[in-house]
Amino acid sequence: MALPHSVRLVEVGPRDGLQNEASPISVIDKARLVNELAACGYAYIEAGSFVSPKWVPQMAGSAEVFASLQRVPGVSYGALTPNLQGFEAALAAGADEVAVFAAASESFSQRNINCSIAQSLERFAPVMAAAKAAGVPVRGYVSCVLGCPYEGAIAPAQVAAVARELHAMGCREVSLGDTIGVGTPGATRNLFQAVAREVPLAQLAGHFHDTYGQALANIYAALLEGVSVFDSSVAGLGGCPYARGASGNVASEDVLYLLQGLGIQTGIDLDRVIAVGERISQQLGRANGSRVAQARRCG
Ligand code: HMG
Ligand code: MG
Repeated sequence: MALPHSVRLVEVGPRDGLQNEASPISVIDKARLVNELAACGYAYIEAGSFVSPKWVPQMAGSAEVFASLQRVPGVSYGALTPNLQGFEAALAAGADEVAVFAAASESFSQRNINCSIAQSLERFAPVMAAAKAAGVPVRGYVSCVLGCPYEGAIAPAQVAAVARELHAMGCREVSLGDTIGVGTPGATRNLFQAVAREVPLAQLAGHFHDTYGQALANIYAALLEGVSVFDSSVAGLGGCPYARGASGNVASEDVLYLLQGLGIQTGIDLDRVIAVGERISQQLGRANGSRVAQARRCG
């Protein structure tokens, strides 16, 4: 298949990145990060998460983050919502879009959201209904699509079944997450081929963590399958709770560099993203996870 002419990059650094950062970061600084990213040309930024603060303390204060945003017209500010309680809080905070999240593995579902896959889908039904009534688009995530920390290999058919359910209940897009970054390009191609039989390709996104250094190769493999939406995190913010010291989401800067080289449009200013990544890395006292940012610094 020909490569897409343009790609939509979903910036998940303020959510997927910061939820895994050890250093505490204030509401003001979280909002500053989102505001800086909004000036880079993103159409969609995941700005927070309305989950239990007992489960994910780093995402406490997401309502205050939304209240502190300087909204840029044309930018959609999204939030993760595991249940109706989370959706109502996200709606009150002014989230433009929300995301529900399921897993392709039963064990991961239990450890992440304390219920089975089937129960999670049941919990999403009232979220979908409330979102429809409020006119809020819903994105769906499937985690562990290329492997699970507890169950190992995951069959593409299992992922396809969960993705089909999310799509059938009204998710406008389903993002397939390689949560522990174990996938390789061949497995990625097989996965998207299997899931595209159940959900239109135009409504699928790729969400790759770079734990094993395969994320860019997997994105290229997904591009070859016709996928045109990818999630990424400025400076590769985040880590992996299942592999100490491992990297987080693929760095937005590195994905942008790859796409630029392929002549694929994104509407996002790479130099600006690099500057944002350098600043937030300094503030968090962590190494910048973007190879492109590191290379630019050296000249
Ligand atoms: P639970 O303990 O089973 O929930 O947690 P519960 O309904 O029994 O309620 C227990 C308490 O939680 C109650 O408070 C509720 O009010 C509260 P208490 O009476 O004890 O004081 N509660 C909430 N508080 C705030 N916001 C809410 C909410 N719901 C209940 N929405 C629950 C179930 C789903 C809430 C919990 O397991 C949870 O919050 N999990 C979140 C886990 C998470 O955020 N993981 C990271 C995001 S997923 C991810 O990163 C993967 C992704 O990036 C893709 C990929 O990489 O694969 C998306
Ligand atoms: Mg993730």
